[in-house]
Amino acid sequence: MVKIRTFETAQLATVYVAAIIEALITAHEHPVLGLATGSTPVQLYRQLVEFHHQGLHFSHVTTVNLDEYVGLSADHPQSYRRFMYDHLFSHIDISPEQTFVPNGQAVDLAAECARYDKILEAHPIDLQILGIGHNGHIGFNEPDQALQTKTHVVRLAEDTIVANTRFFSRLEDVPTQAITMGIQSILQAKAIILMAFGSDKAAAVRRALSGEVSTSVPASFLQMHPQVTFVLDAEAAVEMKMLGRDPIYSALEP
Ligand code: PGA
Repeated sequence: MVKIRTFETAQLATVYVAAIIEALITAHEHPVLGLATGSTPVQLYRQLVEFHHQGLHFSHVTTVNLDEYVGLSADHPQSYRRFMYDHLFSHIDISPEQTFVPNGQAVDLAAECARYDKILEAHPIDLQILGIGHNGHIGFNEPDQALQTKTHVVRLAEDTIVANTRFFSRLEDVPTQAITMGIQSILQAKAIILMAFGSDKAAAVRRALSGEVSTSVPASFLQMHPQVTFVLDAEAAVEMKMLGRDPIYSALEP
């Protein structure tokens, strides 16, 4: 079942998600968070850092990230390992050994994917945080005729590369490949929160929830998960009405 929660602003939506994470990590002895990068969760991480300053601890938490660019070193300013360090890990009491991000510089990428799947098996995810691409991708699972279930190397879609140029000085510098958790690995999380903010995400959100599960919209597979919440701001929710859904609070039966 997909639950939809819509908030007037992205900031309110973010506090809602941060509060869910706080409840989870205070209730569990060894919680595992699946984390995402991109612009959508930046505010969320800022909020969690704020909670940490107010006394929330992360020393018992394990994190597993969705994806990483191939070819960027861990300390490259645009690598996802570096993103997580800059936005979250360096500001909270989590030890680096408890934070997992695929190694995009592995010489043997197939072996790295297998290693990451073992990590996921050893650390079942309690809550997976997701963004959504304009093309409906989750992680770097791009629209295709078939989706891969486990961690794999992916060629990024043209519009993903173009969307990512904003973080690089030149188009040629944007990596064209990434390692990503597969769709099945994402769906194995006990609970999933997809965050989408801004009018440019409205169509992707509608297509993800329009009823059809299709490999051309990887996020549509989330409809098959028993515990998914789409957390939207008002702009990202504008096309919900086209689906006949109450944009503020609604639950879609599978
Ligand atoms: P964004 O990316 O948060 O930077 O919009 C989301 C995604 O592509 O998954």
